[in-house]
Order: sequence, then C-alpha cells, then structure tokens
Amino acid sequence: MEYIDVVTERRSVANFDPSFVISDEEIKKICDYAALAPSSMNLQPWKVIAVKSKEKKEILMKAAMNQRKVVDASVVFIVIADTKALEEHIDRVLENWVNLGYLDKKTAEGYKNFSTALYGKENTELKRKLFAIKNASFFAMNLMICAKSLGFDSHPMDGFDEEAIKKNFSIPEDNIVPLIIAVGKHDKSKKLLPRAMRFKFEESGKIV
Ligand SMILES: Cc1cc2nc3c(=O)[nH]c(=O)nc-3n(C[C@H](O)[C@H](O)[C@H](O)COP(=O)(O)O)c2cc1C
Repeated sequence: MEYIDVVTERRSVANFDPSFVISDEEIKKICDYAALAPSSMNLQPWKVIAVKSKEKKEILMKAAMNQRKVVDASVVFIVIADTKALEEHIDRVLENWVNLGYLDKKTAEGYKNFSTALYGKENTELKRKLFAIKNASFFAMNLMICAKSLGFDSHPMDGFDEEAIKKNFSIPEDNIVPLIIAVGKHDKSKKLLPRAMRFKFEESGKIV
C-alpha cells in the first residue's frame, strides 16, 4: 500500500469488531514503528500503555466518557507525554550519537547544556509540557498510520478524565495524557460515515 493511500484511507473508526484479538507481537510492532517518529533532539518524550485485557479496557472506558469503542477495540493505547524525558533520556541519546560518530564527547556535553536551556529546568512549566505533548503527538499520529499500514483501524480520543486514567494506570502526576488511541479491526457490518470536509490550502494556508 502506498503511503499516500494509507493516509487517505485512515479513518477514525467508531465501530470495532469486538471478537478480533490482536497479538502482543503486533502491538509491539506497531509501537516500534511508531517510535520512528521524529522528536526534538531525538529525546522521544513519550511512553505508551497498551490496554488489552477486557478488565482494564472496562476501567479505561469508564474514564473515557463510556465510549464504547474503548472496549470493542482490540487494544487501546494510552499515549503519555513525559515531561521529564529530557533528564531521563538525554544521556542515552547523546551516548548513541557519540557511538554513531555524529559528534564527539565534548560536543555532546555542549548539546546537553543546550537542550537543558531549551527544555530544562530554567524553562517554564508550560514550555516543558509543550515539548512533551508536541513530540508525543508525532508518535501518536505515526502509530495510527503504522497501524493502518499493518492492516488495523484506529480511533484517537481525548474525551476522557485524565486524572482518572492517571490514577487507574499508575501514571505519574507530572506526566500528561494528550490522547488515547483505540486500535483493532473495523466492524464491517457497521457503515463508516463518509469522510468529513477538510479545509483546503486555499482557506487554511498561504504561500509567501
Ligand atoms: C486529539 C483527538 C481527539 C479526539 N477525540 C475524540 C473523542 O474523544 N471521541 C470521538 O468520537 N472522536 C474523537 N476524535 C476523532 C475526530 O472526531 C476525527 O478524527 C475527526 O472527526 C476526523 O475524522 P477522520 O479521523 O475519520 O478523518 C479525536 C481526534 C483527535 C485527533
């Protein structure tokens, strides 16, 4: 399937086939491909919880305004924007760059100072949050595209009680849940609504 066809055919599928079971291998594969998303300084400020068991999906559905697709989907990914990723990931990211020959150790130290200045403690809480959410959103979009490419359907949601999700899934208070993503197979007996309008470039963009 051409990438452009994957993009064109991805839809937010409201009705999933509840009998379809996704394997743990497929879940990991979707996430590993999704993690090829770009991120600032390659810091990858995201984490993901794949909610697969019926029991946990029911807990998640309650926190997500009782949206039925949460239990009918084969798996629901809780996408977590990790506001502490700079401190947690920077050393491994830079060590990898040094090993790959991107830069030497001294330059790596400079990069550490630079990224701390950009996203770290001298910055506002808001900037740290935006950094995490911005990059986690690339991961989330990639996850939906990769899922489609691997033969699955998806549905992103932000209609949920974030505090309830954090509490029930042991997500640290300083992290953010920008969205959850249901993944599974579209129940073909239920008609998909036609694709809704999009603002074309003529209305939403300009060339300068
Ligand atoms: C961040 C985000 C949050 C969303 N939250 C919900 C939601 O809670 N419930 C829902 O039914 N749809 C939700 N949607 C789905 C949108 O309504 C849907 O993507 C949009 O109508 C376009 O449809 P399409 O994805 O089929 O092109 C969400 C989409 C995004 C990107």
